[in-house]
Amino acid sequence: MSLHILVTGGAGYIGSHVCVALLEGGYQVTVIDNFSNSHPEAVARVNKIADGAINVIETDLADEGSIDFIRKEIGGRPVHGAIHLAGLKAVGESVAKPALYYHTNINSTLNLIEVMRMVGSNTVVFSSSATVYGEGNKNPLTETALNYMPTNPYGRTKLYNENILRDLYIADNDWRIANLRYFNPVGAHPSGLIGEDPQGIPNNLFPYIAQVAVGRREKLSVFGSDYPTRDGSGVRDYIHVQDLASGHVAALQFLHNQSAGCSADINLGTGKGVSVFEAIAAFERVSSRTIPFEVTARRPGDLAEVYADVTLASQLLAWQAQYDIDQMCADHWRWQMQNPAGYTG
Ligand code: UFG
Repeated sequence: MSLHILVTGGAGYIGSHVCVALLEGGYQVTVIDNFSNSHPEAVARVNKIADGAINVIETDLADEGSIDFIRKEIGGRPVHGAIHLAGLKAVGESVAKPALYYHTNINSTLNLIEVMRMVGSNTVVFSSSATVYGEGNKNPLTETALNYMPTNPYGRTKLYNENILRDLYIADNDWRIANLRYFNPVGAHPSGLIGEDPQGIPNNLFPYIAQVAVGRREKLSVFGSDYPTRDGSGVRDYIHVQDLASGHVAALQFLHNQSAGCSADINLGTGKGVSVFEAIAAFERVSSRTIPFEVTARRPGDLAEVYADVTLASQLLAWQAQYDIDQMCADHWRWQMQNPAGYTG
């Protein structure tokens, strides 16, 4: 019997890649999404890539009414776990609209917990972020870092959601919880059929570079070249979204294989830092395009260097990232070339 997994936010950038990995791993998938920052076409393309038949429940998980709607839509079909990715994720917007972020990101988790109780499943993989560490920790970041001080409301919603799920396990040891702390997901499925489709001006480095490379934007702003790093630009742990997706399947397997409930916080990264200038050079190498850039002021809130200690993921999940920065750039570029205007183009 194949296991049936709910994927909230399954039509989004990371969700769509997770759905491919689940289908290819023999799971049945139900996507719960309100398509507020995603496109139904992504699900159609996932089905095409993996020859799947994803069931889609279109609803806003942050609304309490969604609980009963989802229960009815599932209609008694057994559920064996959830991967919870639904939520808002723009750091700047979260500073401007904190209440919206707390409402959406916290309520969607609380409502998912109710859904899981109703369908009788206690397995949840949560999409957390390295942002939970905040400032003041030493690289490589381990899961037992001393400071948990996210610097913005978005990051705090990630930390609070982790706490909610940890408390759930403390109250009832039957829950099986994995808080996966992503570093910087980039790249796309090698088919070029699914990838990141940011609305408006991209906030993040890779989508911005890709849009400059394809000619949609004139030049990249490099936010600071005076950091205490090897070339002065910010260093991050970029991870191929395909690796991230396989990490979710590994986490599900880990939770299902435990003889009792558990709660684990696990970094998903490569363990290697790449600077902004190195990322530009890699993208130029694989795309054979020049990426015009200018160095501007530091972006407020940015850290100099962030990369993961990935020991725990390898110990618990027997998982490690496979792809390097060139592969990330090559796959990101393929998606961008094939879909210059994203899913709606
Ligand atoms: N950068 C630029 N120019 C840009 C965009 C980014 O130079 O146009 C630089 C940043 O200063 C940083 C690096 O590229 O040094 C990466 O920036 P991103 O915005 O791509 O990624 P962040 O590390 O800032 O953000 C990521 C996630 C957030 C999360 C944060 C903290 O995108 O969701 O990590 O963990 F909150």
